[in-house]
Amino acid sequence: MSPIIHHLSKNESLSKTMAAQQFSFDVLAGLSDTPKRLSSKYFYDAEGSRLFTEITKLEEYYPTRLEAEILEQHKGAIAHQLKGRSVNLIDLGAGDGQKTLILLRHFQQEGIDVKFVPIDISEAAIAGLLDVIKSEFPKMECEGLVSEYFRGIHWLNTQQDDRVNLVLFLGSNIGNFDKSHARAHLRQMWTVLNPDDLLLVGFDLKKDIDLLLHAYNDSKGVTAKFNLNLLRRINNELGGNFDLSKFRHFSTYNVFSGAVESYLVSLEEQDVKIDALEIKFHFRAWEPIHTEYSYKYLKSDIHALAENTGFQIDAEYFDTKQHFVDSLLRVKKIDS
Ligand code: AVI
Repeated sequence: MSPIIHHLSKNESLSKTMAAQQFSFDVLAGLSDTPKRLSSKYFYDAEGSRLFTEITKLEEYYPTRLEAEILEQHKGAIAHQLKGRSVNLIDLGAGDGQKTLILLRHFQQEGIDVKFVPIDISEAAIAGLLDVIKSEFPKMECEGLVSEYFRGIHWLNTQQDDRVNLVLFLGSNIGNFDKSHARAHLRQMWTVLNPDDLLLVGFDLKKDIDLLLHAYNDSKGVTAKFNLNLLRRINNELGGNFDLSKFRHFSTYNVFSGAVESYLVSLEEQDVKIDALEIKFHFRAWEPIHTEYSYKYLKSDIHALAENTGFQIDAEYFDTKQHFVDSLLRVKKIDS
């Protein structure tokens, strides 16, 4: 069965142009601000996605390894929560799909009827993931949605298929939203899901600060390359002339906000020209550009977040050291 890919945006080339315009707008706004900032959502061009996959294999970057262990250990319990129903396994931002495969293999083994539905705004990401899944499960029903997350889930729910939705939002991707955006994101998910649908969310937990610092300042310098790649992307796509050797990666943990904060710091006073914006940006020596927040959670933060957004926590799956948790949230609506 060959996979179907739906483009939910009416005009594909228009949506590509709009994405490019949004990128240049955000770079202009961010580099004109004080302090300067760039959004971490722009890390993931082809090279950035490749570097992120490299990060996930590093010993120091524990979240991916721990979450894979959690899924291996608790896949039976997760399958049990589906109560024998047919399922839409909806994957949001699955990366290379290795963790999704752990669940799919188990569901297949248990004879659970699964339709696999990855949703991403990048068609390349969807196509890559479908290739991985299809090579192992050639007969599995797959429907990739090139779309924003909520629009994709909403569209799926208009297809009326009696399946329970199990949405995977793994890898502590939620940590890249600040707390109010995390709340808004979960609430919006709640509005497009049906009563009793399930959401499996990966949260990185607060822990020894040294472990956090090592995870974001790895000894091989892969995270530094990943962060600096954002400047390379601006050079490639917007005609910038950033000299990457004149910036350094810096990540630190903010004990007040509970986030690892990542920056690119200018090593000297310099001007950077961006042709597409027809602007030169001035950098003072040691001036930072903020590039990423990676929020860490307490169990009590997760409980409050679920309660405030209309979810009931059905289960919490931890690793043995309680460094990471996959929380299984059930949609509660008045009639459920
Ligand atoms: C994708 N995201 C959850 C990662 C994180 O931990 O914030 C991205 C990352 N940034 C640096 N290392 C990994």
